[in-house]
Amino acid sequence: MTTPKKLFIKTYGCQMNVYDSERMAEAMGGQGYVETKSADDADMILLNTCHIREKAAEKVYSELGRLKPLKAKNPDLKIGVAGCVAQAEGEEIMRRQPAVDLVVGPQSYHRLPAMEERLRMGKTALDTDFPEEDKFEHLKSRPKAKRAPAAFLTVQEGCDKFCAFCVVPYTRGAEVSRPADRVLEEARDLVERGVREVTLLGQNVNAYHGHEGGLSGLIRALAKVDGLERIRYTTSHPNDMEDDLIAAHADVPELMPYLHLPVQSGSDRILKRMNRSHTAESYLRLIERIREARPDIIMSGDFIVGFPEETDADFEATMELVRQVKYGYAYSFKYSTRPGTPAAERPLVDPDVADDRLQRLQALITDHQHEIQRSMVGRDVSVLIERAGREAGQMLGKSEYLHSVHVENCDAAIGEIARVRIVEAKTNSLTAQLL
Ligand code: SAH
Ligand code: SF4
Ligand code: F3S
Repeated sequence: MTTPKKLFIKTYGCQMNVYDSERMAEAMGGQGYVETKSADDADMILLNTCHIREKAAEKVYSELGRLKPLKAKNPDLKIGVAGCVAQAEGEEIMRRQPAVDLVVGPQSYHRLPAMEERLRMGKTALDTDFPEEDKFEHLKSRPKAKRAPAAFLTVQEGCDKFCAFCVVPYTRGAEVSRPADRVLEEARDLVERGVREVTLLGQNVNAYHGHEGGLSGLIRALAKVDGLERIRYTTSHPNDMEDDLIAAHADVPELMPYLHLPVQSGSDRILKRMNRSHTAESYLRLIERIREARPDIIMSGDFIVGFPEETDADFEATMELVRQVKYGYAYSFKYSTRPGTPAAERPLVDPDVADDRLQRLQALITDHQHEIQRSMVGRDVSVLIERAGREAGQMLGKSEYLHSVHVENCDAAIGEIARVRIVEAKTNSLTAQLL
């Protein structure tokens, strides 16, 4: 028997990359590769990259610089770059770092096996097409290995929204939805392998149109899959929150009370310049309606501070919106210029001013986050047990609200859903007792 070759994948960026990395590992399994947790003993290294902010892209080049000397130790080592930097920069990557053997975009990684064969012949390989064929059709057979209880499932890719700051429409291409029967098939397969919760992924997941009724139709169909206990979805755009999707939060018990709904700014002037096509007011109305459907829902969001020409008053409008919504989680970023996007040509905010705004916004968000966590103490929640904790008898999992929960003296097994009472709120997690 030949010894399997070892594949090391390092994943950057969003959950869609996490999902893609799993699928790449499976595709390479067919080429005789098994995954390894360290780059040092790998025969192939793949960096699955993110291009969303300048720093994210630069990280890739510094990592490639660190990996290059490994080739001196193992002359057969192949280094590949996948993901959104691969899509955005293509050949340029090999020019900047000649140690790179392979560049593959997010829409063409089903061709990895053929590309790996090229490498074996001593060639390099580059593929950043947006092919006509559906990559998921070519990646059909996932091995039947046991899985952790919570899994990602990509249902939609790409984006047609063209926010003025964002590279995603260029790196991931136009919006496409996977057919519902394929998604359902994959979900059933995941359940057979131990999965109890799926998070449906898409750059604009609520623009999904692969099922009658869109995303809510798909959610309603998935809720009928035996053994699938929990459904989440991310990331959503406010303009695609259709009435029936809001209704699903009220009447589909499997749909978890947590929603990531980025708004980016609370200033209408900035929203307009961002090409967001919604206002602060319409967003707040929408949240009101979502909370009417599901009063205990926890909201999450994304913000950009220091967008070109953002004034103090614009930033105050963002702070005010955050005070009104009170997010359970929120991610805020300093604006980063992305070449090729419309906003790249516009005058920047002073970086010190942007830093100061970012700190103030993050402090406010953290206050709310802790307040919401503290308000959970004394409440009974359900926890999907995902793994054993560090202390004896302790198990870890996520509540329906996506809080990390340590359950003390827990005899529930991995994959079970335990009813617990929250007894303590720590900075990043909650502690609970079984009921
Ligand atoms: N599809 C998702 C977002 C994907 S990018 C959506 O529409 O919400 C994730 C987040 O990164 C965005 O919500 C935004 O807050 C941030 N982001 C995107 N481009 C950025 C840029 N040029 N600079 C700073 N943050 C950015
Ligand atoms: Fe980027 Fe906007 Fe599309 Fe989100 S909706 S991926 S922020 S262009
Ligand atoms: Fe990054 Fe691409 Fe995701 S740019 S955020 S990895 S879609």
